[in-house]
Amino acid sequence: MNAIISAVGHYVPETRLTNADLEKLVDTSDEWIMSRTGIKERRILDTKKGTSHMAVKAAEMVLAQRGISPEEIDVLLTATVTPDLLVPSMAAVVQRELGATRCWGYDLNGGCTGFLCAFTTAAQFIESGRYRKVLVIGADKMSAIIDYEDRNTCILFGDGAGAVLVEPSDDDDTGVKDFILHMDGSGEDYLYMTGGGSRHPASLSTVNDKMHYLYQDGRTVYKHAVNGMADVFLRVLERNGLSGEDVNLFIPHQANYRIIDAVAKKVGISKDRVMINVHKYGNTTAGTIPIALSEAHQENRMKYEDWVVMAAFGAGFTWGSVLLKWALK
Ligand code: COA
Repeated sequence: MNAIISAVGHYVPETRLTNADLEKLVDTSDEWIMSRTGIKERRILDTKKGTSHMAVKAAEMVLAQRGISPEEIDVLLTATVTPDLLVPSMAAVVQRELGATRCWGYDLNGGCTGFLCAFTTAAQFIESGRYRKVLVIGADKMSAIIDYEDRNTCILFGDGAGAVLVEPSDDDDTGVKDFILHMDGSGEDYLYMTGGGSRHPASLSTVNDKMHYLYQDGRTVYKHAVNGMADVFLRVLERNGLSGEDVNLFIPHQANYRIIDAVAKKVGISKDRVMINVHKYGNTTAGTIPIALSEAHQENRMKYEDWVVMAAFGAGFTWGSVLLKWALK
């Protein structure tokens, strides 16, 4: 049984945080941000709403596109590092809001690779024949864990959600063909949020010490991201007898224009075959790939039977790639 993406959707909040806005918050400039990251603006969710708000809207777009009701969903997988609550899961919150009463599901934290982890799990649920409709959502409200006094991080991240429906198909030509996933726990030293977990439960001192914010060693992450994404891009093609020339559209994790540009150069794929929307949204963590996929679909950038490669790198470290043949006509 082949697993295909049968519908794709996304949602971003309306409020924009521009580089000019950030110039008022920290010592930075539009010129610095544009030259180092290519990011012009990000979307910010209402502080009173949780990540599930965006996840549900992305899911509703998927259901409407496919013309099915929420009760038809068998499994709901939600990739996020910013669930509404620690308990219960965001999947449970989304299930209730969406009215997907018949499904079970769970959250998955794979950092910026989270969507690919959830998507490849969904594909295997379908390939095994056990389930017929798996909804996969990648969503993050990064504004909830960003310190808007820290110029190293606040310029990079934004809020957003994307979703896909994964279903079986008899068409052997299309669907998920292969994937590669990796994890290296030594990455904890370079990209982390220490407060609020079981090692450092929330307390006055964790708040005073700003432990509920995301920190990173940008240069180390940058280097690993470029090397990791380029490596899994090339290997997933090579072991399927393909090369960069065969790829119709590359959908990389949208962290930073320079990372995307460096990966594209390293693997030898021309920029017109790379999906880029990081300038509009910044890094929405688990949201970037499904949002980019949804916008690429809206822009008609993938034709039936096109080769599509997705690749991501993120906290853990985690990284991976997926090779698929586009199934929508
Ligand atoms: N505005 C102005 N200056 C800034 C700044 C900002 N927003 N943020 C950092 N700087 C300063 C630094 O303080 C440093 O100053 P110093 O030399 O006086 O100490 C200087 O700019 C250079 O910093 P550096 O970190 O070396 O810059 P960089 O060229 O490596 O770019 C990143 C920084 C964060 C853009 C880059 O490292 C990066 O993109 N890393 C990957 C981040 C990422 O995408 N993470 C998520 C992956 S999933």
